[in-house]
Amino acid sequence: MSLRVPFARPDIGDAEIEAVVRVLRSGWLTTGPEAQRFERAFAERLGVRHAIAVVSGTAALHLALETAGIGPDDEVIVPTWTFTATAEVARYLGAKPVIVDVRADDLNVDTAAVERAITKRTRAIVGVDIGGQPADWHVLREIARPRDIVLVDDAAHALPATLRGELVGTLADLTAFSFYVTKTLATGEGGMLVTANDGWAERARVMSLHGISHDAWKRYTAEGSWRYEVVAPGFKYNMTDIAAALGTVQLSRLDDMRARRDSIAGRYTRAFEGIDALETPAAREDRTHAWQLYVLRLHLATLRCDRAAFIDALKQRGIGTSVHFIPLHLHPYWRDTYKLRPQDLPIATREYERVISLPIYSAMSDDDVSAVIEAVREVAAANKR
Ligand SMILES: Cc1ncc(COP(=O)(O)O)c(C=O)c1O
Repeated sequence: MSLRVPFARPDIGDAEIEAVVRVLRSGWLTTGPEAQRFERAFAERLGVRHAIAVVSGTAALHLALETAGIGPDDEVIVPTWTFTATAEVARYLGAKPVIVDVRADDLNVDTAAVERAITKRTRAIVGVDIGGQPADWHVLREIARPRDIVLVDDAAHALPATLRGELVGTLADLTAFSFYVTKTLATGEGGMLVTANDGWAERARVMSLHGISHDAWKRYTAEGSWRYEVVAPGFKYNMTDIAAALGTVQLSRLDDMRARRDSIAGRYTRAFEGIDALETPAAREDRTHAWQLYVLRLHLATLRCDRAAFIDALKQRGIGTSVHFIPLHLHPYWRDTYKLRPQDLPIATREYERVISLPIYSAMSDDDVSAVIEAVREVAAANKR
C-alpha cells in the first residue's frame, strides 16, 4: 500500500541531481575535492574551525568518543530517549553507557539526572537535541567543565538550531551531525564531526581513514604520493564525493528547508492545540528548533484507543508516522546488560506510551499537511472516550 503522505521523503531538486551527475562524470567518486568543499562550506556555515565529513552520524559519534580518548571502563552518560547509535558507540570502545532519564516537557536529557549519574569514572556526557530542539548545553557545560568531562553533542536532528543565540555545533566540545535520508540535510547516508579543537580534529581525520597519516586520500592523485604511513588502527569512515556534492547543495538550501518545516510545525500546532486528546510539542523560548521531528503526544485517558491503534488508524488514512524513540532501556540489549527497569527511568517509560512522530519535511505540499491534520483530527474524534 502506498501512503498518501509518507513519514519522510528527501527534498532533492535539479541542483542536487546535477551535482551528483557532475561527480559521476568527473572520474573521481570517492573522497576528494567535493568532500573538501563540503567540509569547508559546512564549517563556514556553522562558524566552527573543523568539520570532518564521514559516512554516517554514527561514525561521527564513534570518532568523537575515540578522539576524546574514551576507552574500556570509562563511563559515558547518555539519555535513554535516543536512537541506539548514541549509546552503541561507547560500547565500540569498551566504555559503559550510563543511561539516564529525560524531562517530560521537551524529552531532552534531565540535567539533574546527569549530575546524579556522575562518578569518578565519568569521562563524557553525550547530549541529544531531540527532534531538533537543543538540550540545556549551558547547564551541561557547568556540570562538565570543572570535572574535566568531555561534552559530545549528538546533533543528528539539530541542523540548524540555536540555544541562546549560539549555533548547535558550537555548544559542545565535539558535535556529530547525521545526513541520513530522513534528516534535515540528506545525503542518503552521511555525517559530519565538528570541533574547535585542532588536535582532536587531526586525530579524527586520521582515524576516519584507516589511521593513515595526513591527506591519505590524495595518494591516487597527481599531487599525492604512493608513500603513506599507518599511525593507528583506524576506521573506513570517509565520505564519498558523490555524497558530498549532494550535501553541498543541500547545505545551500538549509535555511529555506528549515523555514518550510517551521511553517508546517506552526500549522500542526495551531490545528491541534484545542483538541483534548492531543498535546503539541513544547518549544522553549531561548532556543530555535530545527524541526526534524514533530512529536505529538496523546492524552490516553481521553481516548478509547492506545498509541499503536492511533498509528494504525492514521495508516489506514494514508498517513505515515513513526515513534521517536523507543527508549534505550526498553530494548533487550540495554535493559539486560545494564539491568535497567522501567521504573528506574520513569519519565521516558511513561512518555514512550503516548508519542507519535508526524511527517514534517520540506518536500511536503500544503495539501499533504492538510491531509495529515484532517486524519489526526478524525482519528482523535473517532476514538474520543
Ligand atoms: C539521535 C540520533 N543519533 C544518531 C543517529 C545515527 O545517525 P546515522 O543514521 O547517520 O548513523 C540517529 C539516526 O539516524 C539519531 O536519530
